[in-house]
Amino acid sequence: MKKILVTGGAGFLGSHLCERLLEQGHDVLCVDNFFTGTKDNIAHLIGNRNFELMRFDITFPLYVEVDEIFNLACPASPIHYQFDPVQTTKTSVHGAINMLGLAKRVKAKILQASTSEVYGDPDVHPQPESYWGRVNPIGLRSCYDEGKRCAETLFFDYWRQHRLRIKVVRIFNTYGPRMHPNDGRVVSNFIVQALKGEDITVYGDGSQTRSFCYVDDLVEAMMRAMNTPDDFTGPINIGNPKEFTILQLAQQVIAQTGSKSKIVFNPLPSDDPKQRKPDITLASDVLKWTPSIELAQGLEKTIGYFRVKSNTL
Ligand SMILES: NC(=O)c1ccc[n+]([C@@H]2O[C@H](COP(=O)([O-])OP(=O)(O)OC[C@H]3O[C@@H](n4cnc5c(N)ncnc54)[C@H](O)[C@@H]3O)[C@@H](O)[C@H]2O)c1
Repeated sequence: MKKILVTGGAGFLGSHLCERLLEQGHDVLCVDNFFTGTKDNIAHLIGNRNFELMRFDITFPLYVEVDEIFNLACPASPIHYQFDPVQTTKTSVHGAINMLGLAKRVKAKILQASTSEVYGDPDVHPQPESYWGRVNPIGLRSCYDEGKRCAETLFFDYWRQHRLRIKVVRIFNTYGPRMHPNDGRVVSNFIVQALKGEDITVYGDGSQTRSFCYVDDLVEAMMRAMNTPDDFTGPINIGNPKEFTILQLAQQVIAQTGSKSKIVFNPLPSDDPKQRKPDITLASDVLKWTPSIELAQGLEKTIGYFRVKSNTL
């Protein structure tokens, strides 16, 4: 049994990760400031003697004894990370410094939840880990993109300078139950709009593509990445390479919810990438992992979650 810290553990991905780590018999410390996470996400874990919850902001130093750290704390959707952009950068950068400092003190292994946003609006498709990205350093998304890029820099400098055991995973679009219903992310947006019978808003002409990974596949990959040999640091892409246009997604959600919603088209927001697709060759080689859950199957579970949730929206 390992003592494992999950920062951002009350969020969408973090809550699923806490659940899986508990199932494997580990002792889990969930740290969260509840900015976008909720107690509802982890309510079913409270009472488990191996689960501990701490309200805490990782922009401050943390002193605990742990064997491993999954650093997930950071608002992940534009609406939330642009709400207080300075705090977003602080969470990524000061948060990384604090968690890396903790890992150094207690000799813990540490994994960073990085993002496909480090590639910006890429001119290489699909994106391999060797691609350095095309990021606007001064735009509205920069607090997130550059914050995450700087966090990666810090991870690799701690590895070079202090020989810390690090893992950097670059997460691509992930969806599933416990996504925030109002955060503007495309899958949750479409499902909530469809369930309410409201117009489904597609930005641009809907021909921009995204790849969507179901949360269970993603969590499996993150856990495998943590368990790779010490000489493997990443960065490693994790996500689902199967591409869908945004318009196809909207049509699929309408079909699976049986909604009467209509699709409407709005202007594209600034810096919105036209195409995003992971090259997961490294993940399939090193982690022996490829996503196994089809979009229709994942949407079914996510729609089920939002149907129950929508009574309280
Ligand atoms: N979901 C995706 O598609 C996706 C894609 C790429 C990267 N990621 C990364 O994965 C991680 C988790 O994302 P998510 O989708 O679960 O988002 P989320 O917003 O549901 O979870 C983030 C959690 O971090 C907490 N948090 C934010 N700032 C904090 C701080 N200063 N101190 C402590 N806790 C703080 C929030 O309250 C929340 O519970 C993030 O780091 C995100 O950048 C997610």
